[in-house]
Amino acid sequence: MGGVTHLIVFLSMFSAITLMSEAQYLLAVTKDEPSRQYYTTVYIGSAAMTSPVNLLIDLGTNLTWLNCRKIKSLSTLGLVTCKSSTCKSIPGNGCDRNTCLYRQPRPLGKNTVVTTGRVVQDNATIFTTEGGQPVHIAPSRRFTFSCAVDKYLQGMAPPIAGVLALSPGEFPFWRQMTSAFNVIPKFSLCLPSSRYGYFFMGTPSLGGKKTVPMTSTTLKIDSGKYLISVRSIYVDGVPLTLDPSLLEGGAQLSTVVPFTVLQTDIYNALAQSFTLRQRYYMTKLFYLMISVFKYIKSTNLIFVWVLNLFSQNIGMTQTPGGHAPFKHCFGEGASGRNMDVSVMEIGLPGNGKEVKWRFQGANMMERVSETVICLAFVDGGKKPNESMVIGTHQLQDYLVEFDLSTTQMAFSDPLILHNTNCST
Ligand SMILES: *[C@@H]1O[C@H](CO)[C@@H](O)[C@H](O)[C@H]1NC(C)=O
Ligand SMILES: *[C@@H]1O[C@H](CO)[C@@H](O)[C@H](O)[C@H]1NC(C)=O
Ligand SMILES: *[C@@H]1O[C@H](CO)[C@@H](O)[C@H](O)[C@H]1NC(C)=O
Repeated sequence: MGGVTHLIVFLSMFSAITLMSEAQYLLAVTKDEPSRQYYTTVYIGSAAMTSPVNLLIDLGTNLTWLNCRKIKSLSTLGLVTCKSSTCKSIPGNGCDRNTCLYRQPRPLGKNTVVTTGRVVQDNATIFTTEGGQPVHIAPSRRFTFSCAVDKYLQGMAPPIAGVLALSPGEFPFWRQMTSAFNVIPKFSLCLPSSRYGYFFMGTPSLGGKKTVPMTSTTLKIDSGKYLISVRSIYVDGVPLTLDPSLLEGGAQLSTVVPFTVLQTDIYNALAQSFTLRQRYYMTKLFYLMISVFKYIKSTNLIFVWVLNLFSQNIGMTQTPGGHAPFKHCFGEGASGRNMDVSVMEIGLPGNGKEVKWRFQGANMMERVSETVICLAFVDGGKKPNESMVIGTHQLQDYLVEFDLSTTQMAFSDPLILHNTNCST
């Protein structure tokens, strides 16, 4: 019965949102700290007897799985039989006597650990926002998922009891819901940098928040992953010199990888440009000081002093070990400009021309202590499976839309440029 209270809490959380006319379905996204895991709450069961279950948001999982002990009322829960058409259409299914089984890799930790669970169906309750009215509880709909035991939850933050499937496959949550409610097959995420953000199905709107321009690029779907075709990477408008084969595979989008992982050569090129930009500023300062000191005659001593100052303030410094997983960190004293750092853009195929996805400020850096901020990217080694995996630190505070009706992905301007963000 606690479910009803939860529903009310949820509704009041979003009551400030002004709504737009197209049908859309909305769930809250919570950022867990310090794990940085993003989860949403799905209400399982019929509206009167729902059990809230927190599920890790994963773009790479094909079928939602959860610890079914979290479901308090079993009146609407049913096993999916082996012979059913549902079971047959789940890729990679299996059978245990007459029950449909599903095996899939876990999104966290070692990929070799596979969860196996019985496929079940229960009703799920979500929320609708329609015609400028406050959010409603939508009529509950049949939802197919699988039950997994506790041990598979290892590595997940304590509030989380399973994984919400958002893959491009046949049975992810978003596809089941958009088809049950007969709305356009698309969903969007607005991952917050803290607390609560948004997960929309159908046409998204940030409602009361400003309308923010969106840019589209083609989505590539490969082995159940969402990828975008990166053509080039720019730092402060200057393209990085990269072996083109490095970008061939595209960049995968992930809601479970916290910091964007780059193949070593890409990482080094990015980090090096950052260093250069900082040096560039320091060099300008250096020459400015030299010209000032030309007026003063005791140049020798001052020259030494300036050089000394310059070498202490070089900006990016390779920190020895201390700040794993990061490799390039700033002492805050270095710039005093805090998050005022280089802008990275990734060039993507747009509608007949290249479009750029801009990352800046807090999306580029991570504070590791009171005085140190680091380049928030991870060196993925020489031969990773994907040369670029865009993680949540880079995706947060953008509205990102996955439109499977057109196989396009749309991303907003950095919301910060419009004085808003993903937090409710
Ligand atoms: C469960 O969902 C189905 C539609 O998918 C609906 O017909 C049924 O009324 C729902 N059951 C309850 C108890 O809400
Ligand atoms: C999801 O399904 C696709 C095929 O539909 C498969 O290639 C991929 O490996 C599956 N992903 C996972 C994580 O099981
Ligand atoms: C990389 O791909 C191989 C083969 O597809 C797979 O066995 C391995 O688990 C993958 N590694 C990671 C880190 O995903």
